[in-house]
Amino acid sequence: MNSLAVTLNRLQLRNPILVASGTFGYAREMQAYVDFGRIGAVVPKTITPEPRIGNNPPRTVETASGLLNSIGLDNDGLEQFVAKHLEYLLGLDTKVIANIAGKDTTEFQRMAARLGEFEGLAGLELNLSCPNVSHGVDFGSDPEKTHAVVKAVREVCDLPVIAKLTPNVTSVVPIAQAAADGGADAITLINTLKGIAIDWRRRKPRLGGVTGGLSGPAIKPVALRIVWEVATAVDVPIIGVGGIESIDDVMEFLVAGASAVQIGTANFYNPGLSSQLAEQLAEIMKTESCQSVSEFVGTLNTKTSSCP
Ligand code: FUM
Repeated sequence: MNSLAVTLNRLQLRNPILVASGTFGYAREMQAYVDFGRIGAVVPKTITPEPRIGNNPPRTVETASGLLNSIGLDNDGLEQFVAKHLEYLLGLDTKVIANIAGKDTTEFQRMAARLGEFEGLAGLELNLSCPNVSHGVDFGSDPEKTHAVVKAVREVCDLPVIAKLTPNVTSVVPIAQAAADGGADAITLINTLKGIAIDWRRRKPRLGGVTGGLSGPAIKPVALRIVWEVATAVDVPIIGVGGIESIDDVMEFLVAGASAVQIGTANFYNPGLSSQLAEQLAEIMKTESCQSVSEFVGTLNTKTSSCP
């Protein structure tokens, strides 16, 4: 019997197809399009301890094969998340991984302790990597801070912990290692690449927040490179994300070293994609005669050169 199930340390999922935070609302918005029972997990929009109104508009701009966003972690805060969304989310026929961001270790710890009170959450994803708020990437660009925040969350909460890291550093490897050493069950690679879009005639940036985070197919090669680099250097399960829009993209991430993937920007133009990909993955397992998804993970052979 082949199985799509994957295990990322303490996190067990029915299949490796997840949807990425910030691209799926709080799931209600997507219920008409997605068969939740077919996907591995939902990661709702990042929540912060207090409500945030987010950045000035415009907040999104389309670029070649990509989307530049400067949302600024707009959300109603932790207690409104609990009051308005948690019961609905926990009633879905899939796992739910809450995504949290704080300004300092104490805030992360406080949020983790509060969410740990609720039975049924599958895990916590720590957003150590938002490029659109001050201090957003501080944690994820400093190995010591990354280690400290992951460890602090582990101390107060029994849920599996995933660290979502930024690509906007010289090398992600030491930061991924720090997250693993701090006790992360998995790491998510990558958050968006920092960029700017310019209206040259007006001599103005196109985004209210001036800079933004680039996502979508344009960033897939960067995401694959980082997943592969970290997978070959750090012993921690990876959730790959960045520009996935087809089953071939999913397979590329698995072969590069990801144990699971998140569908992000594609949810905006093809909201049913995640459940379709789970079905297509099951087909590939059959045609490739694989019993387990893990048979694909990290199988990239860089010694075979296609050059003459
Ligand atoms: O601006 C934002 O809300 C983006 C968040 C993120 O990329 O983590």
